[in-house]
Amino acid sequence: MATGIRAGVIGCGFFAQNHLHAWRDIDDVELVAVCDLDRAKAETAAANFGVPSVYDDAEAMLTSETLDFVDIITTMPTHRPIAELAARCRVPMIVQKPFAPTIEDCRAIVQAAADAGVPLMVHENFRFQGPIRAVRDVLQSGVIGQPFFGRIAWRTAYDVYANQPYLAEEERFLLLDLVIHLADVDRFLFGEVERLTCHTQSIKPGIKGEDSAVLLLRHENGVTSVLDATYSSKRDPDPFPQTLIEIDGSEGSVRLDFGFELTTVSPAGTERRTVEPLLLPWAAKPWHGIQESVLRTQEHWVDCLKAGREPDISGADNLKTYALCEAAYASQSSGQTVDPRVFA
Ligand SMILES: NC(=O)c1ccc[n+]([C@@H]2O[C@H](COP(=O)([O-])OP(=O)(O)OC[C@H]3O[C@@H](n4cnc5c(N)ncnc54)[C@H](O)[C@@H]3O)[C@@H](O)[C@H]2O)c1
Repeated sequence: MATGIRAGVIGCGFFAQNHLHAWRDIDDVELVAVCDLDRAKAETAAANFGVPSVYDDAEAMLTSETLDFVDIITTMPTHRPIAELAARCRVPMIVQKPFAPTIEDCRAIVQAAADAGVPLMVHENFRFQGPIRAVRDVLQSGVIGQPFFGRIAWRTAYDVYANQPYLAEEERFLLLDLVIHLADVDRFLFGEVERLTCHTQSIKPGIKGEDSAVLLLRHENGVTSVLDATYSSKRDPDPFPQTLIEIDGSEGSVRLDFGFELTTVSPAGTERRTVEPLLLPWAAKPWHGIQESVLRTQEHWVDCLKAGREPDISGADNLKTYALCEAAYASQSSGQTVDPRVFA
């Protein structure tokens, strides 16, 4: 007999394992149903996480179960039809990133949820990483003064295609799959962007989309930021999956370097500390920072659901992050600087 917030999961593949562990860690949530087109995956998830009901059809799950929310962890092309189905069933929903294949699809999901009057959150977890929160805390403390420059970097040669083979087939790969996280962190740290230039490259042979990108962004508050990302940087040590950040301000600087080393320079002097993420009992290095952020993202959803508050990473908010990636593709293809606000 379910006693907590009744949750269903659609998609029980690679990344869903993190969601499932995190739901189990949140006392208020009771996983009552799991669904995957591949029934064996749903059955395995049900057995591992003690879930009573198993489905291989999302509509059957959403119409048979009484759910307080559904967590959609399928790959991007299926997000819109499943989210619209959840909206028709009036079930609050979380959708994994990337939100959908096009910004029109994203807008349609936001509209469907609004019309149905149900909360919608995009599972954008990077801003919930402890080390990134530590950088933001330094910024907000004011010790480095007014920020004027930021760089957010993801440079690795990690074989991302091993766990996610579909990425090699994506015509819009790195910006939509990975830079979207950095773009969200960029907005989280510096606010909205008024113009953006992007240059992409496809370095690894045999993949359909871009695997390297550099973005130059000008924020409404005057901050200049650079996002640079690649899956083709052969380096030692390879920082995967750490996001590295540096920020210059009028009075000092803050840097998040490899190994979660945080250095703050301010008029008071230099402070160095390690902001290592928690290693949750079900987590494994080097993924632990990502895994902890999945738990924090889902805790945020539950807090908002209980309080009747819009999540910080609502569908409407994520449109602004997604718009940065749309603008980046537009800049790459036109060679022009683009105002991303026209896409949101
Ligand atoms: N935030 C992160 O760091 C991060 C990392 C990896 C993946 N992701 C995201 O997680 C999502 C899932 O990626 P993945 O790598 O786990 O993919 P996956 O292919 O391993 O898993 C997706 C699962 O969804 C199932 N599925 C597809 N369509 C379905 C439908 N209509 N009904 C029910 N089940 C369906 C598939 O059978 C599969 O088991 C993607 O949006 C991806 O971008 C996020």
